[in-house]
Formats: sequence, C-alpha cells, structure tokens
Amino acid sequence: MERVGIVLLGPPGSGKGTQAKKLEKELGYKQISTGDLLREAVREGSPIGKMAEKYMKEGALVPDEVIVKLVEEALLQTQKFTLDGFPRNTNQAKMLEGLLESKGAVLQHVILLVVADDEIVKRLLARRVCPVCGRVYNLITSPPKNDTICDDCGVELVKRQDDNEVTIRNRLKVYREETAPLINYYRSKGILKEVDASRQPEAIFSDIVEIISAKK
Ligand code: AP5
Repeated sequence: MERVGIVLLGPPGSGKGTQAKKLEKELGYKQISTGDLLREAVREGSPIGKMAEKYMKEGALVPDEVIVKLVEEALLQTQKFTLDGFPRNTNQAKMLEGLLESKGAVLQHVILLVVADDEIVKRLLARRVCPVCGRVYNLITSPPKNDTICDDCGVELVKRQDDNEVTIRNRLKVYREETAPLINYYRSKGILKEVDASRQPEAIFSDIVEIISAKK
C-alpha cells in the first residue's frame, strides 16, 4: 500500500490540531504534530526537550534538523498521516520532500486554514488542555461541561505556556515571516487548497473531506 500524507498549513490557532484529530478519528490519517512531539519531549526532560523549550517559550522555531528527525521517526510508524505544524519554512519543506522520497510516500494535499489574526488571539487565549489525555477545549467555543475540569479525566485543565498575548503575537509574526512563504511554494506545485477556517469545526472538516475525496 502506498504511504500517503496531508499537510495542514495555517497560523497558530487556525485549528490544525482540531482538524488533524478529526482526520485521524474519521478517516484514519494519523496525526503527526511536531508541537505535541516537542511538548512531550519537554515534559520528559529529554535532551531535545531541554533544547527546544527556550524557543517554544518565545514562539520561535526550533532548529530544522531536530524537527526533521522527530518527523522521520513518526513517519516510520504510519502509512497514512496528517502533518500538523510541519513544515514551517521552505527549508523544512525541502527536507520533507527528501524524507517522503526515501520512505516511498506521497504528499496528497496541502490544506491551508485561513483565519484572521483577531480571531486567532481570541481562540488561543481561551484554549485549555487536559494535562492527562491531551484533549483540547476552548472556554468560549467548546468548554468542558464542568468549570475548567476535563470531561474525560476529571482533572483541572491547563493553559499552554505559549498561549499568552505577547507570545501569540510573536508566533503570528514568525508565521508571517517564515511559514507564509510556503503558501506560494505549494501553490506553484499545484497541491494547495484553501479552506475558510473561521467557521464551525464541522463545516471546515466537511470541506477538508471533500478535498481529500475529490478525484484529481
Ligand atoms: P504548535 O503546537 O504547532 O503550535 P501552533 O502552530 O502555534 O498551533 P497551535 O497548536 O497553537 O494551534 P492549532 O492550529 O493546532 O489550533 P487548535 O486546533 O489547537 O507549535 C508550538 C511551538 O513548537 C512553535 O511555536 C515552535 O516553537 C515549535 N514548533 C512546532 N513545530 C515546529 C516546526 N515544524 N519547526 C520549528 N518549530 C516548531 O485550536 C486552537 C483553539 O481554538 C482551541 O481552543 C480549539 O478548541 C479552538 N478552535 C479550533 N477550531 C475552531 C473553530 N473552527 N472555531 C472556534 N474555535 C476553534
């Protein structure tokens, strides 16, 4: 069976993680989130985690070589995957091409989630995460049933360290300067599709499924 993947491209808070989880649950595309892999390394206190933490606190990009190694390991374990938060710059996109070729994998689509900055800031300030199961909530749009307690684990939800206004603004700046050039990069390859991600998650997901299911 051919190894196939999708890239979800978009600014912080555009809903990449939310949609990647749905793709995994509904269509079996395994979520490979470089942000989640890095946060796990930070929690474990591994050498990668110790090195990455300072970049993440500021909302800066972690060095490409480290990221590509994480993705390579994750890719080996799956046939069908969504890349969430990778690639983040043109160098990473080129490294991804080498990786895919060496693993006999094909990039099917790059899906760009489009949302305005003001909406992003609102979403990220209201995001809370369960420290046990990793479920992501939003205190405004998808709150837990009970106060700030995870519906599944019964523990207090936490705020990500980089979800404060100063770091969010820096993440947006880094996105514009380093990641947004990938839009034209993938557009010129004819594999970029845009989705209006300012709507409800279900409407966005339905567009993504349509893109994936369409005959080329
Ligand atoms: P990463 O974890 O990738 O963060 P990010 O790209 O900033 O994206 P987020 O996880 O913040 O947002 P998202 O788009 O997944 O949105 P979500 O679905 O959670 O990276 C963190 C850091 O790690 C980086 O700053 C960098 O330091 C490092 N890093 C990671 N990858 C790297 C790489 N490749 N190279 C170098 N460094 C790297 O949704 C957000 C909130 O909105 C949630 O509360 C959610 O419930 C809510 N929401 C989602 N969809 C909707 C909707 N449609 N309507 C209303 N609310 C919604």
